[in-house]
Amino acid sequence: MGEPQPSAAALAPEAPPRASAAIEAFVAVLEAMPFACAAYARDGGALFAANRRFLDEFGALPEHAERDRLLRGLHGGEVDGNGPLEVHAPHNGRWYALHWGDVAYDGRRNLALLTAVDISERIQSLDSHKSQQEKLLFTSRLMSVGEMAATLAHELNQPLAAIVNYLNGSLRLVDQAGGPAQVERALQAARAQAEHASAVISRVREFVRAREPRRDAHELQLIAATVLELLRLEAERLQLRIDLALAPDLPAVYADRVMVEQVLLNLVKNAIEAMREVPAAQRELRVEGRVNLDGEIEVRVCDRGHGLSAADQDQLFSPFFTTKTDGLGIGLAICRSIIEYHEGRLFFEPRDGGGSVFGFTLPRAEGRA
Ligand SMILES: Nc1ncnc2c1ncn2[C@@H]1O[C@H](COP(=O)(O)OP(=O)(O)OP(=O)(O)O)[C@@H](O)[C@H]1O
Ligand SMILES: [Mg+2]
Repeated sequence: MGEPQPSAAALAPEAPPRASAAIEAFVAVLEAMPFACAAYARDGGALFAANRRFLDEFGALPEHAERDRLLRGLHGGEVDGNGPLEVHAPHNGRWYALHWGDVAYDGRRNLALLTAVDISERIQSLDSHKSQQEKLLFTSRLMSVGEMAATLAHELNQPLAAIVNYLNGSLRLVDQAGGPAQVERALQAARAQAEHASAVISRVREFVRAREPRRDAHELQLIAATVLELLRLEAERLQLRIDLALAPDLPAVYADRVMVEQVLLNLVKNAIEAMREVPAAQRELRVEGRVNLDGEIEVRVCDRGHGLSAADQDQLFSPFFTTKTDGLGIGLAICRSIIEYHEGRLFFEPRDGGGSVFGFTLPRAEGRA
C-alpha cells in the first residue's frame, strides 16, 4: 500500500504529489457537502479536487476531468454562466442545478468551485403535473366537442329525415304522373345527398361519443377509410386528393378505434391546412401505413405544405402552441396524449422534397386482443 489518500476524494494529477494539510482540509470540506462538488483550476480548467459523490455521479463522463469539456458535455457551451444552470446529464439521465463559485485557494492558485445538485425529483414532479393538466385538457375538449356534436346531430337528424320523406313522396308523385325524367333524376340526386348527410352525422355522433377508452384489434384500413370519408368534402373543396398507401397484409393494431380516428383526423386536417397557400398542382397528401423495424405499426401523414422552422419544431406538441389565427393549438397535444396512452410515439420529421411528415406508432394486436 502506498501513502494514505485523503479519504474519499480525488486529487487531480496536477495537485502536488504529497497532499499538504491544506489540501486535505479543503478536500474534507468538499466531502462534507451533501451534493456533488468539484474544484477546477481557474487557469486551464483542470480538475483539482472532487468529493466522492461527484466522482460517483460524473466520473463516468470522460469529460469530467476538465472544466470546459465537462460543461460542453453537459450543456454544449456557456462556460461562465452566472446563477444556477439546470442541465440534463446525458450519461445518467438525471437533472442537475449547477452553481459556480470562486475560491481563492492559496496565493497562487484560484479555483472555480462547482456544485451540482440533483434536481431530478423536482423536474419529474413538474412533468407529471404537466401531463396531468394535459389529460384534463384532453378530456374537457373531448367532452365539449362531444356535447356540441350530439346537439347538432340531434337537431339535424329530424329535418334530414323529413327531407328524405318529402323527396320520396315527390318521387312517387312524379312517377305516377309520368313527369319529366330530369325532375325525377334531380329528386333522386337530392335524396342521395340527404341520405349521405344523415350517414355523416351518425358517424360523427359515434365518433365523439364520450366513453372510456376500449382497446381492441382493429384494421387500419377501416380506421383510415372512416377518417378520409369525414374529410372528403374539405379535400374536394381544396382540390386535393388524399392517397392512401397501406402496406398489404398490415397486421391489426391494438387500439381504441375512435381515439385513433381522432388522431388521424387531426393530423390530416393539419396537413390540409398547411397546404392552403400552396398552388393546387403541388398539393399532395399521402397517408402511409407499414410495419416498422421495431415491429410496430407506423402511420405517416405526408404533406407538401410550408413545413416547420426549427424553433416551431421544439414547441410543436405543447398545448396552445399555434401559428394559425383560428387555431386552438391543442390538436397535436391531444394526439400525443392519445398515442402515449397507447404506448406509441408521435413524431415529426421534414419530408424529402419539402413539407412535413407527422407519424405515430401503435402496437400490433397479435397476442394482446
Ligand atoms: N402538417 C403541418 N405542417 C406544418 N405545420 C404544422 C403541421 N401540423 C401542425 N403544424 C404546426 O403546429 C401547430 C400546432 O398544431 P395543432 O394541431 O396542435 O394546433 P392547430 O392546428 O394550430 O389548432 P387546433 O387546436 O385547432 O388543431 C400549428 O399551428 C402549425 O403551426
Ligand atoms: Mg390542428
